[in-house]
Amino acid sequence: MTTIGLGTAAIGRPQYINIKQKTGAEDEPFQLSQFKQQGIALLETAYQSGIRYFDTAAGYGIAEEMLTDWLSGKQISDITVATKWGYTYVAGFDPNAKVHEIKEHSLKKLNAQWEHSKKLLPYLSVYQIHSATLESGVLDNMEVLSRLAELKNEYQIKIGLTTSGSRQKEALLKALDIEVDGKPLFDACQLTYNVYEQSIYDIVAKIKKANIKVIVKEALANGRVFANKKYPHYLPHYTLLYELAEKYNTGVDAVAIRYCMDSIQPNVVLSGAYNEETLMQNLEALNFKLEPEELEDIRTMNIMPEFYWNERTALTYN
Ligand SMILES: NC(=O)c1ccc[n+]([C@@H]2O[C@H](COP(=O)([O-])OP(=O)(O)OC[C@H]3O[C@@H](n4cnc5c(N)ncnc54)[C@H](OP(=O)(O)O)[C@@H]3O)[C@@H](O)[C@H]2O)c1
Repeated sequence: MTTIGLGTAAIGRPQYINIKQKTGAEDEPFQLSQFKQQGIALLETAYQSGIRYFDTAAGYGIAEEMLTDWLSGKQISDITVATKWGYTYVAGFDPNAKVHEIKEHSLKKLNAQWEHSKKLLPYLSVYQIHSATLESGVLDNMEVLSRLAELKNEYQIKIGLTTSGSRQKEALLKALDIEVDGKPLFDACQLTYNVYEQSIYDIVAKIKKANIKVIVKEALANGRVFANKKYPHYLPHYTLLYELAEKYNTGVDAVAIRYCMDSIQPNVVLSGAYNEETLMQNLEALNFKLEPEELEDIRTMNIMPEFYWNERTALTYN
């Protein structure tokens, strides 16, 4: 059964990839302590609402630290924390920062970020390469792959990779074949899948057969599932999504998340909510199920991955 997890990209840093227009709130002075308190409160709300999977990353500002603080002194044994290495947050909470993160998939970076991330143990059970694209070369870097295998054995954690970009299907197929000392390395993959980006649809069965957990990110296409004049090419799709939302007495976000759940039955779909209201709306996806013919209709919304990712690349941080 698919569960909904909480992604912490939006609560760990004040700016995050989004389609929103400026609201003016960005110009107010940023207060780190208040920001941190709000993030920790959301983690607690998520837990109280039944969420048991938390996804974070070294590159998500203070998200890892928030999770560590929230978990310290807690007596819970039923949550999974997944984190990632490979990006460094460099914006320093400056709303006008030009560069937000730097990608580096070296052994040095892996070792340095692991030193921080391991504070999340024993809750930490999935350690992922952040954005393992073919171009990054990380899937061919034997010293990095061997080190990950070492961490897997030493700490009894699962090793995962996250994929992005128009070649994510190829990257995943390559990852399926990676072995260290004769044993498959990867136990989990976090991939982008939503009503528009369905390129991995026909390899999900293969991934599951390899005993690799499937975690869906960007289930709302970074907000592009909501009717928006900036994206007129999605107009026919909005009609169907809104009709279904009305039928199930819920929001378009819940319909889009439910599509991910019912069409490929992943282990987890991540909500990227940054406040309680959005989280509760996203969680409505748990309350209904789409009909087979509705799944078929949404399946046809699939667009060319190159088009999807070009549009995604053009999104800004705000
Ligand atoms: N591995 C990677 O490279 C990677 C990349 C991206 C994401 N992730 C993970 O996946 C998680 C989820 O991804 P995501 O948040 O980027 O993408 P997403 O779920 O596709 O999109 C989130 C967007 O949808 C909007 N939204 C959600 N619910 C809404 C509602 N009820 N009404 C109006 N707008 C709503 C949000 O707006 P608001 O901002 O107003 O809430 C936000 O703009 C992240 O937190 C992170 O953990 C990983």
